[in-house]
Amino acid sequence: MTAARSALLFFVNGKRVEEQHADPETMLLSYLRDKLRLTGTKYGCGGGGCGACTVMVSRYQPRTKTILHFSATACLLPICQLHGAAVTTVEGIGSTKTRLHPVQERIAKANGSQCGFCTPGMVMSMYTLLRNQPQPSMEDIQEALAGNMCRCTGYRPIIDGYRTFCQEANCCQLNKNCCQNGENNNGAERDKPQLFDKEDFQLLDPTQELIFPPELILVAERTAAPETLTFPGERMSLVSPASLDELLELKAKHPEAPLLMGNTHLGPNIKFRGVVHPLLISAVRVQELFEVSHTPAGVWVGAGCSLTELLTLLQKLSSEGRPEHTELFRALTKQLKNLGSQQVRNMATLGGHVISAYPNSDLNPVLAAGNCKIRVASSSQRRELPLNQEFFVSFGKTLLRAEEIVTSVFIPFTTKGELVSALRHAPRKEAAFSTVTCGMRVLFGEGSSVVRDISLYYGGVGPTTVSAARTGQALINKQWSESALSQAYDVLLEELDLSPSAPGGKVHFRRVLTLTLFFKFHLETLHKLKHMGWTSGDVPEELLTLPSDIEPSVQEFQSVSQAQSVEDVVGRPVMHKAALSQATGEAVYCDDLPPTQGELCIALVTSSRSYAKIKQLDVCAALQEPGVMDVITAADIPGKKVCTHSGYDEDILAQTEVNCVGQVVCAVVADSRAHAKRGAAAVRVQYEDLPDPIYTIQEAVERSSYFEPRREIERGNVSEAFQSVDHIYEGSIRLGGQEHFYMETQSMLVVPLGEEREMHLYVSTQWPTSTQETVAQTLSLPSNRVVCHVKRVGGAFGGKVTKTALLTSITAVAAWKTNRAVRCVLERGDDMLITGGRHPVLAKYKVGFMSDGRIVAADLEYYANAGHSADESTLVAEKILLHMDNAYNIPNLRGRGAACRTNLPSNTAFRGFGVPQSLLVMENLLNDVAMTLGMPVDQVRELNMYRGPSLTHYQMPFSPDNMLLCWDECKRRCEYETRRRAVDQFNRQHRWKKRGLAIVPIKYGIAFAEGFLNQAGALVHIYKDGSVLVAHAGTEMGQGVHTKMQQVASRELHIPISKIYISETSTSTVPNTCPSAASFGTDANGMAVKDACQTLYQRLQPIIQENPQGSWESWVNKAFFDKISLSATGFYRGPDLYMNWEQMEGRPYSYFTFGACFSEVELDCLTGDYRTLRTDMVMDVGRSINPSVDIGQLEGAFMQGLGLYTLEELKFGPSGILYTRGPTQYKIPAVCDMPLSFNIYLLPNCNNPHAIYSSKGLGEPSVFLGSAVFFAIKDAVCAARSDSGLTGPFSLDSPATAERACLATNSNFIQKVPASKPGAFRPWALEI
Ligand SMILES: Cc1cc2nc3c(=O)[nH]c(=O)nc-3n(C[C@H](O)[C@H](O)[C@H](O)COP(=O)(O)OP(=O)(O)OC[C@H]3O[C@@H](n4cnc5c(N)ncnc54)[C@H](O)[C@@H]3O)c2cc1C
Ligand code: FES
Ligand code: FES
Repeated sequence: MTAARSALLFFVNGKRVEEQHADPETMLLSYLRDKLRLTGTKYGCGGGGCGACTVMVSRYQPRTKTILHFSATACLLPICQLHGAAVTTVEGIGSTKTRLHPVQERIAKANGSQCGFCTPGMVMSMYTLLRNQPQPSMEDIQEALAGNMCRCTGYRPIIDGYRTFCQEANCCQLNKNCCQNGENNNGAERDKPQLFDKEDFQLLDPTQELIFPPELILVAERTAAPETLTFPGERMSLVSPASLDELLELKAKHPEAPLLMGNTHLGPNIKFRGVVHPLLISAVRVQELFEVSHTPAGVWVGAGCSLTELLTLLQKLSSEGRPEHTELFRALTKQLKNLGSQQVRNMATLGGHVISAYPNSDLNPVLAAGNCKIRVASSSQRRELPLNQEFFVSFGKTLLRAEEIVTSVFIPFTTKGELVSALRHAPRKEAAFSTVTCGMRVLFGEGSSVVRDISLYYGGVGPTTVSAARTGQALINKQWSESALSQAYDVLLEELDLSPSAPGGKVHFRRVLTLTLFFKFHLETLHKLKHMGWTSGDVPEELLTLPSDIEPSVQEFQSVSQAQSVEDVVGRPVMHKAALSQATGEAVYCDDLPPTQGELCIALVTSSRSYAKIKQLDVCAALQEPGVMDVITAADIPGKKVCTHSGYDEDILAQTEVNCVGQVVCAVVADSRAHAKRGAAAVRVQYEDLPDPIYTIQEAVERSSYFEPRREIERGNVSEAFQSVDHIYEGSIRLGGQEHFYMETQSMLVVPLGEEREMHLYVSTQWPTSTQETVAQTLSLPSNRVVCHVKRVGGAFGGKVTKTALLTSITAVAAWKTNRAVRCVLERGDDMLITGGRHPVLAKYKVGFMSDGRIVAADLEYYANAGHSADESTLVAEKILLHMDNAYNIPNLRGRGAACRTNLPSNTAFRGFGVPQSLLVMENLLNDVAMTLGMPVDQVRELNMYRGPSLTHYQMPFSPDNMLLCWDECKRRCEYETRRRAVDQFNRQHRWKKRGLAIVPIKYGIAFAEGFLNQAGALVHIYKDGSVLVAHAGTEMGQGVHTKMQQVASRELHIPISKIYISETSTSTVPNTCPSAASFGTDANGMAVKDACQTLYQRLQPIIQENPQGSWESWVNKAFFDKISLSATGFYRGPDLYMNWEQMEGRPYSYFTFGACFSEVELDCLTGDYRTLRTDMVMDVGRSINPSVDIGQLEGAFMQGLGLYTLEELKFGPSGILYTRGPTQYKIPAVCDMPLSFNIYLLPNCNNPHAIYSSKGLGEPSVFLGSAVFFAIKDAVCAARSDSGLTGPFSLDSPATAERACLATNSNFIQKVPASKPGAFRPWALEI
């Protein structure tokens, strides 16, 4: 359509923005970052699921003359929808240059920012909450942050920082048992180091906030006929009428044009599914769609109202109305509170929700069960339609005609005796689409429990919202009782049948949920009837929701010695040095670097086949796309076309064959990201499928598909030992993989300097040297022409070691060929598809033990799914074997490990490097032994632990004393025995809720078994003004290595930390570096920095001795004039570690980090939902250099482990395609998953002669400690099974998701659902 182009007017951070060429496809996020250069707002997923891009939007409402502030995800906010709005970003509220805002200050000082990539989003969610609620409750805070994902911190410090804004008694800062002071508030505890003093915080002063722009109020108040706005774009145009008539006319003319409201459904469809709508009609300026009108029968809510506005309205009506009239309102309120995140609810509209007709919509089943109706309008007709089964026609389709729109939704009052419930189950408690969801309504005759009318609606069990009408019918005129219900279950199962291959999988579980949610409805109804006095007799236990009140936690730091000078910052909880910059959005990540002139972008074309020959690569259409400059293929690589790991080559760009879905085939280079993406979509690849691809470990084992070498290790004589044991048990466990989900996706910028073939790489990598070398080899250049710079990394966790080098090489070829700077920032979906993750493992074991619980022999086989390339998989398999003993001295122990070659994306390093998989297997084996013998598992663990001077199964001597201390201290701190008794009592009293607890130990080897990787270098410059610049080999990825290095330099140079700066990690300052990995960064780089600083301090000694009273600056100045070099390198050789696999012995680790962790959970056996009630962790980290940073690492790793073992699931389709490609499908832990009480204790008085200042490496170990939650769930499941008469070992694979936990209880509901016969159907997802 052609019409005059309108100017778009909005404000950003108080500044007027008038955009003459607004494109409807431009989202606020890219506009802020690319056009306005406000890079504080981050891209994490692009689909509203991570919260990294959260901003505050303010709008003036002329009807009420109020200003509405709400948080929104900028990635789903089309700029064209912002006409008349004011946007506030993280840059708009405070800065380190002017004044910090309290929300920025508090998250930073509470150590709530590690890599910092999520921090601006957290800040803006909290800021918006405070704008609306200056004294929020803890519930408000949790609700506001529910949609903000953080992969580093584990959330506890963020919550603690923001808890200081709330005025409730549970704020530990006001409580006499303040968490920052330790457990008690006695004098001794008060002397312990504190992270922050609340008294020092700036006060929140709402009068200091930016005012809403008066110009926008004037514009909104203007009464003269507002004009229609028109925004023609490159592919799509948008028209925004200001009246209903005009809107209906437009709809009549363009029935195919969708209505753009919150864009939370349309946006993801356009972005992820490539849907193009030539015309969009925005109705956000049509006031009629926002009206609310009250009638005696109920309320008409305008279809344009956001879900938050609906929630507020229903809450108000519920509190004002009589309870029997507001049953439906309360049911909807409950559902709304759990729908998406606050940001999504702020944007999504009621009409948009109904019409999107998601099969698992949370509202539609409740609206339908509640007899709601909608008013629809077209230019020729107005009508009302009931929201019932007939309305939801098929997947995403309703009865609405193309030219019609919904104007309002009617939500009726309930009558006396009419009871409504809304129930849902989702893979994560918050910010997750439901697996199964339902709305149920029953009407009883006055004073009786006989059913007069009933409607039951479900979502998640078919392509649409469905009515279980026959089940309802079976209950009409029946007494509400267990026996009536038990007949109804059979009808329900029959009525809501699901094919075993149904999309979304989890078919058995979904069918069970249809029953258990119905049972919950039954219980809720019984309790209501009882409350009303309409039924007599006993009613079963009331099912309360899982506990959710986050309590103050304890983080007990080690105290530094009294003798240590106050200036010496080593051992003190120094704030992460970049935390303030991260909280203000000033911290620069790779993609925040300003573009250079003529810079290009690339988008990758990936294979859609898992195993095929490339017959033809046709790039003609791509080259015709606007803005596309070139397509890079393997033929363009001037140097080495492969990366080599463990003797196996991996194509940088596929040459003749593809070996997995997601392998990179070619790269499209264009003048913008959008153009590159469209170009990539236009590339045509013709494949010829090759036979028999391998996906699963089972298939790989059957076909002997391995990466060599496979390893074996044995202590004692396992086969012989099995002859003399009392019991033998054979078991197995399967562990799923894990996506790194670093918040900053893979990012790189390659800049050719144009002289002597020099290339500068700006990369988010853990290993700059490897990136430099791989690029040099790919371009056939000497390494001295390639410099790799790393400012900071927005989370890595092992995923930015090898894969980043390969992706940078592709980008470098594009830069080389075009002679222009080229940037590559992966979209979240591509990142998840291409870069692999943690290895899934299948372990089989046989264990021989005595009746007293002593394990005599264990034989284990481990198979890791490596994917299509070797990467570091054989090393992962080796590390699995090296850690298989964990804390236990099993005299006869044998392990075999193999990395399986499959046609899946290649897996790689991930925090813990195989250890989290290995240790879970051993602990599961111990669990099985305990369950076989009916012994408490903690006793079996204790009985088998190493004690006294010990030798590992590879003959490395060590002392387990500190491990045993951690164990005992952890048991004491958590009051294990008391809790065990309390849990047992709880379980006796509850049928459908069970509690479980577990405690696990860890012994974790630190450093690289490949001795050469333990070296490190540093370069320290002292400038004439006394300021010091430190460079070292480690990359800052949130783990605080730069902060610790500044502490080291501060101690060695005897100067305040404020004089020391670290700007970046670069191959031009420190060459030939090793990866920041294996928990060894501080150990190695700390020694190198120490070495350099000691050299410099020694050089200054004569000057200092000559003038001991002089200042640091005076000594430095004198040194300059005395021609003393003020620059020094430092080097650390590192320990010479090795492992001899032929001899089965070695010293692969420098030392061990020890710990123990306890967790208690409460499990809802009907849905498998659980909550961690408490976690206590005691760690021996030597003498911590920075206890707050270290505790941050421990907590963050624990939460990653909790995700690995209980939540995160990668799903692959039967042809090897990864389904889970974003936060909507793949759930990492959110605020709702943190333990309600999360206590960390650092073991005092520990020394470690093997590392700097007696510290220990700790970045990785506590990932495994998340398994305390896995075993606590298993314990709870065990209690549920014993209610059904089941005892002894049972299988529970990892992750122990709600699905697995619920099905493992094997309750009568589960037994009711017939399981489909494996092999008789094609499953939706594979067990890889
Ligand atoms: C991250 C995320 C999490 C989510 N979580 C959940 C969840 O947990 N549970 C859940 O149920 N849903 C969830 N949703 C879905 C969400 O509720 C819907 O996307 C949303 O309600 C759609 O409303 P909208 O205003 O954004 O629609 P838009 O995307 O603007 O439009 C969607 C469709 O509705 C049509 N439409 C809009 N308004 C009207 C109208 N008045 N008349 C006729 N047609 C209209 C449009 O033409 C379009 O086809 C989630 C979405 C996201 C992005
Ligand atoms: S980037 Fe917007 S929510 Fe993730
Ligand atoms: S600090 Fe939250 S993602 Fe890194």
